[in-house]
Amino acid sequence: MDETSTNGSSKGGDGSRQPVHLPVLLQETLAILELREGLVVVDGTVGAGGHARAIVQAIGPSGHLVGLDRDSEILVSARAALAAAAEASGAVARVSLHHLPHASMQAALAAEGLPGCDRVLLDLGVSSLQLDRPDRGFSFMVDGPLDMRMDASAPMTAADWLASVREEALADAIFQFGEERYSRRIARRIVEARRRTPIVRTRQLVDLVMGALPAPARHSRIHPATRTFQAIRMVVNDELGELERGLAAAVECLTPGGRLAVISFHSLEDRIVKHFLRAQCEVLTKKPIEATEDEIRSNPRSRSAKLRCGVKKETAA
Ligand SMILES: C[S@@+](CC[C@H](N)C(=O)[O-])C[C@H]1O[C@@H](n2cnc3c(N)ncnc32)[C@H](O)[C@@H]1O
Repeated sequence: MDETSTNGSSKGGDGSRQPVHLPVLLQETLAILELREGLVVVDGTVGAGGHARAIVQAIGPSGHLVGLDRDSEILVSARAALAAAAEASGAVARVSLHHLPHASMQAALAAEGLPGCDRVLLDLGVSSLQLDRPDRGFSFMVDGPLDMRMDASAPMTAADWLASVREEALADAIFQFGEERYSRRIARRIVEARRRTPIVRTRQLVDLVMGALPAPARHSRIHPATRTFQAIRMVVNDELGELERGLAAAVECLTPGGRLAVISFHSLEDRIVKHFLRAQCEVLTKKPIEATEDEIRSNPRSRSAKLRCGVKKETAA
């Protein structure tokens, strides 16, 4: 489960809180992708460019990184991070960034005149930068509009969905995607509340979840609203559907012998990745690679990360 609240944020030198996103399993990802000079790499979830910064160093000036993200705002951070990397060391790859879902990587490659790619990375979920922006509505830690769209031009916000979803479907989603045992009580509370007033702020949703939980469950190790927020976010962004489409696009685009690495944070995502790699690739990770205790200490978000990787099979002649 992605338990992120404010993980990845840190205090700046002046004491101000500065959102940063620490790339998870960075060394493990670079190693299993077997990067070398001249490769064409798709980072399908480029985010703030944490993994991408290291990738452009590894593939050097003859390489090409094509980065995609469905959040246009975060691409501004990626662009800045990658420009800084280029300034710090001249020997980095060509970079092209596209505001597209990873399922559209073929279109992004075609726009760059590239017939395919040698490596694909998908690092799923949300970035700490998105969680740290109250106006994006992802976080239960601060009040904001109940939005949660990764792509701000997408038609349905979390508030829209909560206004219309049937109680049973809401309970099922909170149970399935949030693994929340009190899903039915929470769904009932939300549906009762929306008859009185629309649920449009994150603070309202937090209060409703808290009110629905029995007292002991309000004092759990993780914030009691974590699971419900995660479930709603996964629905609003169709995250499992996106993953299936992105994996299919990756094997389409990879050259035979190319590698696909996926970092997931949710058991359902990990299951989809595991079965997909088994069916479509030669699997390099019989068991998923997980973060070390050291990494978990310095970046709690890495606690639930699972890295899997496969090689696209050579096609029979
Ligand atoms: C965990 S962050 C990636 C962080 C990045 N690896 C880094 O080190 O900075 C996930 C990113 O994937 C993006 N994302 C999620 N689903 C996506 C999709 N279907 N297509 C493209 N981008 C997606 C999110 O907007 C977010 O920026």
